[in-house]
Amino acid sequence: MIRKQAFGAVPEGPVDLYTITNSSGIEVHAMNYGGIIVSMRVPDNKGMTADVALGFDTLDGYLNNKPYFGAIIGRYGNRIANGKFTLDGTEYQLARNDSPNSLHGGIKGFDKVLWHGEHFGNNQGVGVTFTYTSKDGEEGYPGNLETKVTYTLTDENALQIEYEAVTDKATPVNLTNHSYFNLAGEGAGNILKHQLMLNAERFTPVDGTLIPTGEFRPVARTPFDYTKPTTIGSQIDADNKQLAIAHGYDHNFVLNRKRSGLELAGRIHELKTGRVLKVYTTEPGIQFYTGNFLDGTVAGKHGHAYDKHAAFCVETQHFPDSPNHPNFPSTILMPGQTYYSRTVYKFSTE
Ligand code: BGC
Repeated sequence: MIRKQAFGAVPEGPVDLYTITNSSGIEVHAMNYGGIIVSMRVPDNKGMTADVALGFDTLDGYLNNKPYFGAIIGRYGNRIANGKFTLDGTEYQLARNDSPNSLHGGIKGFDKVLWHGEHFGNNQGVGVTFTYTSKDGEEGYPGNLETKVTYTLTDENALQIEYEAVTDKATPVNLTNHSYFNLAGEGAGNILKHQLMLNAERFTPVDGTLIPTGEFRPVARTPFDYTKPTTIGSQIDADNKQLAIAHGYDHNFVLNRKRSGLELAGRIHELKTGRVLKVYTTEPGIQFYTGNFLDGTVAGKHGHAYDKHAAFCVETQHFPDSPNHPNFPSTILMPGQTYYSRTVYKFSTE
């Protein structure tokens, strides 16, 4: 079932909130401002529902959404070094909003624009499609980029996100969603007791400004080894230079892939409530971020102060700063090509 209601307005127009529900008790709220997933209400192993997504109660909170709670990220997820890259001999300078780098699309990224929403029901489930055209030169990026993001909630308790884009000039594109999860419920403390499995034998270490050095480093015998289910808090404080740089995890993991298509990227289990989140994706990487920059100053839903590690993000993506790393999978979309990627958040209990 899907319902649309007014949720305020921004200078570009009215903001609509979509309530998407399935037959097994999951309820997702999403809005056309930033394409933001506002909430995900999911049952636990006793049938008790909680909202597992950090965010705000009202649109006002989201107008100053510094952590990017729930938002669509584009044109480029994560950082591009010094906001610079060269394409076909032309150097481009992007808006720099994370000194000295460009982060998550720049000053006014896809998280802060008003999308056009259309809701639907089909044999896969119910959901909403958001479209947005990013103009040639927006935030410094070349080409008019027509973007479409579709959220579908299925009766199998999966929230599927599909990303599509076409361009009229070659441009980097790397779209993702920036939901912050706490499987015990938003505001229910930190996520350090959650158990994590990541289907990744390597990760991309970073320099002091969180730009990948270009290396693919094995996780074996490091606190980055989540190839078997491991409690996040048991490794996060290890004496490790990469953890020190990022104040926790804020790293791109290179997913093990045997083929292209949708594959399991990770699994997170909260033992008290029994909630399990499995993440499947067609992308080659996943940014595992443990909310290191949350510091209790953001007043979230129900006035909850979100402290450091109050949530984790699992941002499925191509690797950060790919336009400056020829050894990374390419993120350049060419005219005539269609960008397509798909990620599924599957909820269950144990
Ligand atoms: C980045 C973090 C950043 C966070 C919120 C993550 O994707 O990797 O470094 O602080 O988003 O902006």
